[in-house]
Parts: sequence; C-alpha cells; structure tokens
Amino acid sequence: MSKPRVLVSGATGFLGPSVVAALQNVAKVITLARKHADVCADLASPGATAAAVAAAAPDYVLHLAAMARMIDCERDPAMAQRLNADAPGEIAVGFGPRFVLVSTDLVFDGCRAPYAPLDLPMPLSEYGMSKAAGERQVLAAGGRVVRLPLLFGRDAKGRGATGMIRAAIEQGQPVTLFTNEYRTPLHVVDAAAALRQELFAERGPRIVHLAGPERLSRWELGNLLCARHGLPRALLVPVESQASNRPRDVSLVGTFRPERDLAAMLADA
Ligand SMILES: NC(=O)c1ccc[n+]([C@@H]2O[C@H](COP(=O)([O-])OP(=O)(O)OC[C@H]3O[C@@H](n4cnc5c(N)ncnc54)[C@H](OP(=O)(O)O)[C@@H]3O)[C@@H](O)[C@H]2O)c1
Repeated sequence: MSKPRVLVSGATGFLGPSVVAALQNVAKVITLARKHADVCADLASPGATAAAVAAAAPDYVLHLAAMARMIDCERDPAMAQRLNADAPGEIAVGFGPRFVLVSTDLVFDGCRAPYAPLDLPMPLSEYGMSKAAGERQVLAAGGRVVRLPLLFGRDAKGRGATGMIRAAIEQGQPVTLFTNEYRTPLHVVDAAAALRQELFAERGPRIVHLAGPERLSRWELGNLLCARHGLPRALLVPVESQASNRPRDVSLVGTFRPERDLAAMLADA
C-alpha cells in the first residue's frame, strides 16, 4: 500500500522539522512555507495558498504555519487574522477531518485552569484571538484542532522555550523569565510524535489537547534546564508579568500522556 501524502505547512519553523522527521517513515511528506519548501506559498495572499495546497493533492494536511509570535500579532492584528484564521479556514475546505490545525493554549484567558478540550476559548491577546478565530473557521469546515502548550527542545536557531534560554546563556546575555505565568510545557519531539498519531486518528475527537507532563512557569523551566545541564543560573532573571494580555495559567488537560517524563525531556533540551 502506498504511503499517504501529508502536506505540512510551517515546515521551516521551530516545530516543523520535528514533525517532518516524525512523519518521514509513514508518509510522503510535502512541505509548505514561503521559501525552502516543496510548495512555496504565502498565506497572506487570499486563495493562493489554498490553490497551492490543492495542486499538491495531499491526503492529509497538518497546518502549522502561523504568525506565531505574540509581539508580531500585536503589531499587525489584521495580518494575524489573515494568517492565523482566514488562511487555514480557506485551506481546510474539502479536507474534512483530514485537515488538522495546530493551535495553542493561549486561546484561553488563564482564569480557570486546567483547560479541557471542550472549554470555551476566551483569548486575551491578538495572537490568541487570531488562533481562536482560526479554530472556529477550521471546525466549521469540518477540520480538527490540536492545541499545544509551550514547546521546548534543542534548536540551533535559539527558538522554543529552552532554545531561547540556551542561546542567551551562550551569548552571556541575561534572559528574563516569567515567574507568574503557568503552562504545561512539552518537548517539541514529543509534540511531533503525538501530532503524527492525531493526524491519522480522523475518527477521534475534533479538539485535542497535548499537555506536557508538569505545570511550570518559564522561570521554573529555566532553572530545571540549568540544573540538568550544569548551566550557570546567574543570567536567569525572574520577572513578574504585569501584561493584561498574558494569561496567568493556561495549563492543559486531556487524554494524551507523553511517553517521556519531564526529566527525560529536559535531558534532551
Ligand atoms: N512554539 C510554541 O511554543 C508553540 C506553542 C503552541 C502552539 N504553537 C503553534 O505551533 C505552530 C508552529 O509554531 P512554531 O513555533 O514552529 O512557529 P515558527 O517557528 O514561527 O514557524 C512558523 C512557520 O510558519 C511559516 N509561515 C509564517 N508566515 C507564513 C506565511 N505568510 N506564508 C506561509 N508560511 C508562513 C514559517 O515559514 P517561513 O517564514 O519560512 O515562510 C514557518 O515555517 C503554530 O501554529 C503555533 O501557533 C507553537
């Protein structure tokens, strides 16, 4: 039997390469990004990306591409809406449950954690609002949604929660870490393996949460990382977030249980 064709958008980002690696043996992977991908397309152009995806004729679409930084979304909310909501809504049409949108714990307001998949999104930030709008569009088109928590793991470009800390320490720069924002962080490799499983479970729940093994602040995560690898903690700077658009606790719950515990994930971060 031939392997299913899986289009992975956002393949060049932090999460994308781990997802491509996880799928490589079980699927014919077609990557999509603006450059350095099998299909080069810009989600900003209405219709163009949906047409490019359709031309690639995938059996499944795993949609990671997004304006994924909060600060970018605050600067350009209209573009956030376009990239994070309208574009996935357009691409999802016709794929039904074979389209999976990767979303975020930041669709919640942080006041009623832990959040289960059917809890009502109440986003505080432009990023969260645009991703929640994307979820609604994708669900309306018959697609599915997988929400991820804060991701961490090794990254040569210093992306992800621990990659950013390592990069700062290597450059001798202080790194500020919130003490009063809690999430359920997950290693990017474990997230990718779980996404592969969810992608092919098209008869499963339409909204899924992939929570990491423990509820942690970025400050706690940074200290655990340094302790695990003998990195100096002097450059870690604890700060209390005061921003009204940053939720205080978006811990997720669901049926997913990662195979590795936090210690094993941190050893690989
Ligand atoms: N990282 C986290 O902690 C985290 C947590 C929860 C959920 N998520 C979700 O996971 C997904 C992946 O996140 P990430 O951290 O890997 O993001 P990232 O590193 O910022 O990567 C974003 C990806 O989207 C592509 N992209 C951005 N703008 C595009 C456009 N206009 N047209 C086509 N492609 C575009 C980028 O490719 P080019 O720029 O090369 O075109 C890149 O491949 C996102 O949906 C995000 O909301 C991430």
